[in-house]
Amino acid sequence: MDRILEPEIMDDREAAAAYARADFSDSNQLYVDRVVARSGEHLSSVVDLGCGPADVTMRLARAVPRARITAVDGSEEMLTLAHRAIGAARLAERITLHLGRLPALALPEHSFDAVLCKDMLHHLPDPRTLWSEALRLGRPGAVVHVMDLVRPGSPLEAREIVERVSSREHPLLKEDFYNSLCAAFTVEEVRAQLRAAGLTFAVEPLSDRHMAIEGVLP
Ligand SMILES: C[S@@+](CC[C@H](N)C(=O)[O-])C[C@H]1O[C@@H](n2cnc3c(N)ncnc32)[C@H](O)[C@@H]1O
Repeated sequence: MDRILEPEIMDDREAAAAYARADFSDSNQLYVDRVVARSGEHLSSVVDLGCGPADVTMRLARAVPRARITAVDGSEEMLTLAHRAIGAARLAERITLHLGRLPALALPEHSFDAVLCKDMLHHLPDPRTLWSEALRLGRPGAVVHVMDLVRPGSPLEAREIVERVSSREHPLLKEDFYNSLCAAFTVEEVRAQLRAAGLTFAVEPLSDRHMAIEGVLP
C-alpha cells in the first residue's frame, strides 16, 4: 500500500498524554540497549530527535551516566510531559529539552557525537529532513541510531498488527499506532533515501513492524 501521511507534530494534548501513559518499555529498552552495546563509547554529547515524553532519553541517561543529552521535539505538549518526567527522575542536569521542529533546528552545527531518533521518521512528510539534519548536527564520525516502524503491505495487515500488539491499549493510542504504521516507510524506501543522501548506513529489519537504521557520519 502507499504511504498515508499522519500529522507531523503530536501537539494534541489528549493524544500526547495517552502516548506518554502507554507502555513502550520493551521497544524503548531494546533500542537503548542496542545503542549502548554498539556505540557506548560515543555517547557523551547526544541529540535525541523527536523525543516525545522522553522515556527513551531518560533510559539512555540512566544507562550512560556521562551522557549529556539534548532532547528535541516540535510539540510543546510532549515537552511539558517530558519536563515533568525528567524532573521527577532527577535527570534535569543531564537532559536539556529543546522545543523545535526539524529541519533547521536552532542548535550548533556538528556538535554531537551521537544522533538518536526513535519513531519520528514516519511522521515526516519528507524523510530527507531527518538525514540532512543528522548530517548538520552530528560531528564527522558521529554515530547515528534510528529505529522506526515498517509499513505493512496492506491496511488489513496494519490492523492485525495493532490488535496483536496493543489490543488492550486506549482507543486513541490504537488509532495512533495504526496511522503510524500506514505512514511508515518500507526497508527498501529507507535504503533509497540513504543512497540519495550519500549515507552508507545499514538498514536491518528487526521484526514485522520495526527496523534499525545505523551508521557513522562521513
Ligand atoms: C511517535 S513520537 C516518538 C517519541 C519518542 N522518540 C519515543 O520513541 O517514545 C514522535 C515525536 O516526534 C515529534 N516530531 C515529529 N516531527 C517532528 C519534527 N519535524 N520536528 C520535531 N519533532 C517532531 C512528534 O511531535 C512526536 O512527539
